[in-house]
Amino acid sequence: SLEEKLQLVRNSIKCYPDFPIQGILFRDIFPLLYDPKAFSAVIDLFEDHLKNKFPQIDLIVGLDARGFLFGPVLAQKFGIGFVPVRKKGKLPGPTLSVSYSLEYGQAEVEMQSDVVQANQKVIVIDDLLATGGTLAAACELLNKVGADILECLIVIEMKALNGIKKLGSVSVHSLLQY
Ligand code: PRP
Ligand code: MG
Repeated sequence: SLEEKLQLVRNSIKCYPDFPIQGILFRDIFPLLYDPKAFSAVIDLFEDHLKNKFPQIDLIVGLDARGFLFGPVLAQKFGIGFVPVRKKGKLPGPTLSVSYSLEYGQAEVEMQSDVVQANQKVIVIDDLLATGGTLAAACELLNKVGADILECLIVIEMKALNGIKKLGSVSVHSLLQY
């Protein structure tokens, strides 16, 4: 059942206090991939959710790096393509970029400019929503090319950081909330 699958996912996420720095409780999603049952549970949950909600999806867009673990597998379930949004300087050819602020300093994400067409219906996927900066920047990239962002899918949402606020009117669906 849905609740059993969610429980399997929840139980597979390991917590590490004070990583990568003092005061941060790091939630590691890699144990999900170590347990094939837990990994299929994540993919099933995302797939069921999308099938019930959207009659047409053209592309899955995943965020560098951990969004790459889930995005292509999910895209295969729908028989559609996967597009990466990468950290700056990793993609060849013409790219579009958006920079955003981190707690200290700036970061920049890039997408190849010729892969997503205007009005294509896209789902954006990542493992975790914290401040929302990364996901908001990715959505800004997709807005630049005129994509129709149906929804963002996230495994873990850190509620206290209120990252969802940065997303504006874009809807976000997460499997687990902390
Ligand atoms: C992590 C996580 C999200 C992002 C969330 O990525 O995978 O992509 O931070 O943070 P935010 O909501 O505050 O933007 P990170 O770049 O740290 O590592 P990764 O390359 O392993 O995905
Ligand atoms: Mg990431």
